Amino acid sequence: MTGVGRRTLLRTGLLAGGAGVGALAVSRLSDATSAPSRADEEPPPPAHPATMPFRGPRQAGVTDDPQPFAAFVGLDLPAGATKDTCRRLLRVWTDDIDRLMAAKAPLTDLEPELAEVPSRLSITLAVGPGFYDAAGLVPHRPSWLAPLPSFTIDRFDGHWPQTDVLLQIRADSPVAVAHAQRRLVVGAEPLAVQRWVQRGFREPLTSSRPGMPFRNLFGQVDGTVQPRTDGADDALVWLGADGAPAPHGLAGGTALIIRRIAMNLDTWDRADRVARENAVGRRLGSGAPLTGRLETDQPDLRAEDELGFPVIDPVSHMRRAMPAAPHERILRAPYSYDEAPTGRQRSNSGLVFVSYQADPLRQFLPIQRRLAEADLLNVWTTPISSGVYAVLPGALPGEDLGAALLA
Ligand code: HEM
Repeated sequence: MTGVGRRTLLRTGLLAGGAGVGALAVSRLSDATSAPSRADEEPPPPAHPATMPFRGPRQAGVTDDPQPFAAFVGLDLPAGATKDTCRRLLRVWTDDIDRLMAAKAPLTDLEPELAEVPSRLSITLAVGPGFYDAAGLVPHRPSWLAPLPSFTIDRFDGHWPQTDVLLQIRADSPVAVAHAQRRLVVGAEPLAVQRWVQRGFREPLTSSRPGMPFRNLFGQVDGTVQPRTDGADDALVWLGADGAPAPHGLAGGTALIIRRIAMNLDTWDRADRVARENAVGRRLGSGAPLTGRLETDQPDLRAEDELGFPVIDPVSHMRRAMPAAPHERILRAPYSYDEAPTGRQRSNSGLVFVSYQADPLRQFLPIQRRLAEADLLNVWTTPISSGVYAVLPGALPGEDLGAALLA
């Protein structure tokens, strides 16, 4: 098979169900030039489509299974930005994102080959409070689109402040993430300027056990109790899905909260397994509640041990994070980070905690308040930054992202 033929197959996504499957397919095709045996077999069908749809009423990257690599990029509009600046920015990005997600190079791409490997790339665009200021839309700003109140556990160091715009870039390949990030940031200048980047990772979908999508760097199964993503819990996530009017221009969007939370692996190393499991209320191995056997078992909050103490500690993370009312539920898609330690640090690790919810004030805030008041996990974790963004609705064919907001 010629190089061109191989590239075409990859580009159309026929072979590449992800970086791993794609690589396997290529090596089999290379063998095919000499030996017709196994290479003639159909490659296994990809577990996930190799590209994600961009056009539609909702953006990708919210209720989809999180890809293993992510970059969250905070950008600010320039001083003096106006509604026209916002409109031009969203026009440039809409075209670039449309192409990148389809595994096609943006018009100005100097490394088009990097864009042409389908890697289940999703790029999700969200705006912060400053975007509303620049666009002259302050009266339309939802009440939740503002910094969260400060909590006693917060120790922000100023490195990842709230920005006017957020790009969430996720893919099966770190190359696809890095390339998309660079193209979008360079393509946006001078309409927006990058302030920070937070990179994260999680296990590839193919390597995680079914029902155990993510283990954080404490080794905990993280992401067990979640709203359903098959449509049944849409009202918890998507604006306007509950039938009530959505904030101006945001029907089909959602609210995104991003908090960088340092996890002290050195002091965690000193905690024994009992203390570790007690801190969350779940077993490290199976992710099951301490009163159950399976990850999916319902926790029994009334169960007591032989001394009469509750088996699930009332200040365990799970107990404190549980909804006190049915609407207090959020969709979490955290990523681990593990950066080069600085100074005397041995590790610089934690969670880029990301959640989506229709109303942060009703859904997220009560949970975060409880966790700040009391949560055994706080012994080892420290929030070091926080941001709140409105994920824009999707772009229909011929439309730019944010069209309804800026109309
Ligand atoms: C480094 C910080 C954090 C770590 C390591 C962590 C870890 C975990 C783990 C292991 C679980 C149990 C399994 C599961 O259901 O996913 C859990 C549950 C949960 N966490 Fe966290 N978490 C962190 C921060 C947060 C924050 C900031 C929030 C929201 C304010 C949050 C909200 C929740 C919720 C809602 C649940 C499900 C509770 C339930 O209904 O059972 N977590 N977390």
